[in-house]
Amino acid sequence: MSTHNENPSGDEHAIVPHGDHSLAPADPIADPGLHHDEPRLTDVEPKAERRAERQVAGMFALASLLTVAFIVFYVVVGIHPDDPHDGVDVGDVQVSNLTLGLTLGLALFLVGAGAVQWARSLMTSPEVVHERHELRSDDETRAATLNDFETGTEETGFGRRKLIRNSLLGALALLPLPAVILLRDLGPNTGGTPAQRKEHTIWAEGVRVLTDVTFMPIRAADLEIGQLVNAMPATFEELPEHGPERINERAKSPVMLVRMLPEDLHIAEGRENWGVDGILAYSKICTHVGCPISLYEQTTHHMLCPCHQSTFDLSDNGKVIFGPAARSLPQLPIAVDSEGYLVAQSDFTEPVGPSYWERTR
Ligand code: FES
Repeated sequence: MSTHNENPSGDEHAIVPHGDHSLAPADPIADPGLHHDEPRLTDVEPKAERRAERQVAGMFALASLLTVAFIVFYVVVGIHPDDPHDGVDVGDVQVSNLTLGLTLGLALFLVGAGAVQWARSLMTSPEVVHERHELRSDDETRAATLNDFETGTEETGFGRRKLIRNSLLGALALLPLPAVILLRDLGPNTGGTPAQRKEHTIWAEGVRVLTDVTFMPIRAADLEIGQLVNAMPATFEELPEHGPERINERAKSPVMLVRMLPEDLHIAEGRENWGVDGILAYSKICTHVGCPISLYEQTTHHMLCPCHQSTFDLSDNGKVIFGPAARSLPQLPIAVDSEGYLVAQSDFTEPVGPSYWERTR
């Protein structure tokens, strides 16, 4: 037996137009699932209907204008320098991102808002009445199901074999616990401070810097202004003697040596003696997700990661100036030994590679 009202058409499904109460079920209170709204202002007042129509059309028109503005800004606010040696101006990139984001974002918003206003104010919103069938099974089916269940229980001996039953119930009760315990991993990282979690490389005080081509030590005088050399520690090949546990430290050791004019450098406080005559050493491993990098733009001192375009300014302490990397390229403090060869002053002072160590929540 249905608890719903019969609709006037006598069909199982009937559509009642919004505001047309002549076809609505006679007793909506008896069926709390149905809502028979009052007619909207736009249903009864032609002026209100026209006003709503103008609002919707206005939003769509404004969205069109903003889309055109997006294209204009894309063309006018260029981020490409006239001189290809000048590099990308960060200010231009910010202005370009702002104008493009605002125009396209607002255009999309207005299309959505116009559609919502159209649906709420002007579209016919019929109420559909769907008569439900009886959900309860008949008595015969219920009795047969109960009988099947009891027969099954009897055959398994679930009621008689108390030892098995109780041990099974105990096992099932404990099974959800691992899932609850694993929720702890969603909480803050409790593995200590970033400094405590720092992974080491094989750089150490006095270790010479070798080129990764000839494996020869490098003198400061060997590097010219604007030159970049991929390098590694002199102990790189000795590591098998240190055992496989140092393989990870070895993999994180490659660096880039770059020589710039000392007057172009913006040295951070505390790093004043980390370089030699404008020669600085940076980790070669991107701090985003760890790609090796060496796409160097000599005139701007920018280092680009080919994987996701993170860009680091080597003249400004390896600072990130573009892209998804969250922190600067780690810098290796270097000096010269008594024979004029470049050597490390110590290991890196911060973790090398992706920034997972930084995440504390
Ligand atoms: S790994 Fe360098 S930007 Fe993603």
